Amino acid sequence: MIFDIITIFPDFFSSILAHGILKRAIDGSQISVRVRNLRDFTGDVHRSVDDRPFGGGPGMVFKPEPIFRAVEAIQAEAPVKRLRVILLTPQGRLLNQRIVQELSREPRLVLICSRYEGVDERVATHVATDEISIGDYILSGGELAAAVLLEATARLLPGVLGNEESKELESFTIPGTALNSTSDVGLLGFPQYTRPADFRGLKVPEILLSGNHQQIREWRERQALLKTCRKRPDLLGKVGMDSEELRRALKRAAEEETIETIS
Ligand code: ADE
Repeated sequence: MIFDIITIFPDFFSSILAHGILKRAIDGSQISVRVRNLRDFTGDVHRSVDDRPFGGGPGMVFKPEPIFRAVEAIQAEAPVKRLRVILLTPQGRLLNQRIVQELSREPRLVLICSRYEGVDERVATHVATDEISIGDYILSGGELAAAVLLEATARLLPGVLGNEESKELESFTIPGTALNSTSDVGLLGFPQYTRPADFRGLKVPEILLSGNHQQIREWRERQALLKTCRKRPDLLGKVGMDSEELRRALKRAAEEETIETIS
């Protein structure tokens, strides 16, 4: 998968591309990331990318021309039928795992990072195919948002994580289990433990030491439900279980927890 990132801070991406999953994905040729300096697509000696807003007001607005030219150059290099061009903006669709999964099926993504007071509206209406926000808060620019999108997408590509199973077990994943097959966003992940089994008197739940994989799987499903119920009850409505089934699973999970605490 190819990512083209358009930014005025190309160096911003050096560190994240040189570490962890993204480095591995680049080294393994599962992704190719090309960071484009927006200033390379300006036409004036000052290489200016922004200007004052028409109609007045504070701050500066990204001009349309350099962004149009950057996207046209990217498209001309290797034309694709319908290039996905994503403008990172707090005004966009809120990113979630469903959108990330959808994007991970694209052969190529262009990510536009804007700054200052925003970007000329003609970029949103005539260049971008998508506008995406990573949360209801304002960042000073789209670079962090682009990095989030890049990492979340790259790790879903075949061969990037190594252990394909772990993706299925994560929070928000939408596995094909009866528990949440119709879910839009999935559940939070189940609680994980590692050695030691007893840390300063804090014990790992007995069931996990039992070796009974069927029971462990069921316990994890119930615990994922309980965790979601406590931390993100807003997600539960989308799980796709009938309410009686949900009530029973939650009751059982809460009981198991009480028993663990007492023993
Ligand atoms: N640019 C500034 N804030 C942003 C946000 N919350 N999401 C995406 N891009 C942004």
